[in-house]
Amino acid sequence: MKKKIVLIYGGHRCEHDVSILSAFSVLSSIYYDNYEVQTVFISPKGKWIKGPYLTNKPISPNILHLSNTSKNISPCQIKTLGAIAFPVLHGPMGEDGTIQGFLEILEMPYIGAGVLASACAMDKIISKHLLQGVGIPQVPFVPVLKKIWLENPGSILEKINNLIYPLYVKPANMGSSVGITRIEDSSGLQEALDTAFKYDFRALIEQGIKAREIEVGILGNEDIKITDAGEIIKDVAFYDYNAKYIDNKIQMKISAKIPEKIHHQACEYAKKAYEILAGSGLARCDFFLTANNELFFNELNTMPGFTQFSIFPLLWENMGLKCQDLIEELIQLAEKRFAKRQSYF
Ligand SMILES: Nc1ncnc2c1ncn2[C@@H]1O[C@H](COP(=O)(O)OP(=O)(O)O)[C@@H](O)[C@H]1O
Ligand SMILES: [Mg+2]
Repeated sequence: MKKKIVLIYGGHRCEHDVSILSAFSVLSSIYYDNYEVQTVFISPKGKWIKGPYLTNKPISPNILHLSNTSKNISPCQIKTLGAIAFPVLHGPMGEDGTIQGFLEILEMPYIGAGVLASACAMDKIISKHLLQGVGIPQVPFVPVLKKIWLENPGSILEKINNLIYPLYVKPANMGSSVGITRIEDSSGLQEALDTAFKYDFRALIEQGIKAREIEVGILGNEDIKITDAGEIIKDVAFYDYNAKYIDNKIQMKISAKIPEKIHHQACEYAKKAYEILAGSGLARCDFFLTANNELFFNELNTMPGFTQFSIFPLLWENMGLKCQDLIEELIQLAEKRFAKRQSYF
């Protein structure tokens, strides 16, 4: 008998479209001899809608664009005995531990990181603090709470004086470069913070560095595998949402041309970050590499982009693991983690 996968996609408005593209890629790579898939769409406004039931590869992503007028279901209705959930969701309410917590309550096995790793990795302030604590280098940054910025901006400005422009102002909890502004001098600070605070009441201001962007893929629960590094090659200063998904300004170099020593260091940091943040299933770990070979941790993504152009599946393909086998491995890792969790109760 075929196993059932409940694939959840769509979600938060900011990364909704990316999620649909990722979901289509995943759905195109499932071994339908072994699985059937119930898709579940979350509208940008948070309505849950039963999507198409797939026993074969979908022909076009269009079938995944569901209208807001479709009949919605209660989220609890996704629970099906023996089914494995695959939340192909990026950003808030998807990659941040919320869906993961809900799936724990439903007692469903699910693909990807658990509650703790999802929440910690998604939060740029928390993850930086945690990883700085174990000696993983970060670019200098200043956390900013909206309340403190409004009530005592001097205390923040004092800290920012130690940073060298350009600066990157970011919401603590977001992805796909949404809400991030690069500022060349202090005149742009207020507006940049206003933008970041549209998405979160916590933000951070980071020193900008001129650096290459190097990424590795991670797969596993306790025992992990790490890919060779890939490089995001951009002809824009700032890898923003448009550059990432609209203008096609990005090229990838897999494997990245970096010294062996740097690759080794990236793997060490990625492994440590994954362990400290309690990763499981998969992650993509992103770094900045300066011209004089200084490596800085940027972030760990617990649900990396999975579109056909995304670097995560390409990094694995480069290691000889084709997308179908990658998905199969993720399903098995989810089942193993679930069995282990159950054994504690
Ligand atoms: N401190 C920095 N120095 C240089 N570039 C940066 C810095 N922070 C962010 N960027 C640029 O902005 C992009 C998005 O920032 P990132 O922190 O990775 O946010 P997101 O979670 O939205 O991907 C990066 O890929 C990089 O191009
Ligand atoms: Mg990023």
